[in-house]
Amino acid sequence: MFPVESGADHRGRVPSDLQEAVIATGLKPASWAYAEEFVAEDDLMAAARARATEVGVVPIGSGGGATLRFLAAVTEARAVVEIGTGTGVSGLWLLRGMRPDGILTTVDTEVEHQRLAKQTFTEAGVPPQRARLIPGAALDVLPRLTDGHYDMVFCDGDKTEYPDYLDEALRLLKPGGIVAFDNALWHDRVADPAQRDAETVAIRELGRTVREHESLLPVLLPVGDGLLVAKKLWSPA
Ligand SMILES: C[S@@+](CC[C@H](N)C(=O)[O-])C[C@H]1O[C@@H](n2cnc3c(N)ncnc32)[C@H](O)[C@@H]1O
Repeated sequence: MFPVESGADHRGRVPSDLQEAVIATGLKPASWAYAEEFVAEDDLMAAARARATEVGVVPIGSGGGATLRFLAAVTEARAVVEIGTGTGVSGLWLLRGMRPDGILTTVDTEVEHQRLAKQTFTEAGVPPQRARLIPGAALDVLPRLTDGHYDMVFCDGDKTEYPDYLDEALRLLKPGGIVAFDNALWHDRVADPAQRDAETVAIRELGRTVREHESLLPVLLPVGDGLLVAKKLWSPA
C-alpha cells in the first residue's frame, strides 16, 4: 500500500522535495496541490479519512473525490456501483453527487472496512436505504448485480483485477453511463515502461483497452493518483 494519493498532504502542504520537481506541464507542484485541494473537505470526510488511516486503507484524494461527486451530479446518477468501499470516503463523495434518492451499491472483501464506512454514512446523515453494502470479492458479487441498471461504476479494489472490473462495468452500465478507475497513474509507475509489477501491468492493459474500445469515450484525468473515466456510448461512433 502506498500512503498518500497526491503529492500534498490533507492540508495541501507539499513536501519540499516535490516542490523542486520538474513537472512535464510546467506547472509548479504548488499549483497541483492547489487544484487537488480546491474543493475543501468537511469534518465528516476528515473523520472517514482518520478511520482509513487506522485500518491501513488509502482513500481517494480530495481532487478525485470532488471529481466523482461532479460526475455523479452531471449524470444525475440514481444507481452507482463502487468496488472497494474502504471506510466510505469515496462513497460519501458519490452519495453527495447522486440524486437525493440515489442508491450506492458498494462491495468490499473486508467486513471491518464496511462497518467503518457505515459509520461514515450514518454520521453524514445518509439514510440507510441509500447505501447497500455488500461484503465479498468483487468478481463474486458483481455477476449477481442487474445488467444495464447502473449510471456509474467506480473501481477502487484489487488493481490486478481492473481489466475484469471493466468487463463487469460494461455489462452493468446503462448506455450513456460512466465508469471510473482510481489509481490510473499508480504512483508514477504506469507511465514508466521499466515498471513491470502485476498491478502496473494490469492498469496499463486497462488503459489500452479503454482507449481502444469502440463503445467507450475515454479521458485520463490527472487528479490525485490518476482517474481514468469513460462514458459508455449509446452506439459505436
Ligand atoms: C483503496 S481502498 C478503497 C478506498 C475507498 N474507495 C475510498 O476512496 O474511500 C481498497 C479497498 O478494496 C478492498 N478490496 C481489495 N480487494 C478487493 C476485491 N477483490 N473485491 C472487493 N474489495 C476489495 C479493500 O479491502 C479496501 O477496502
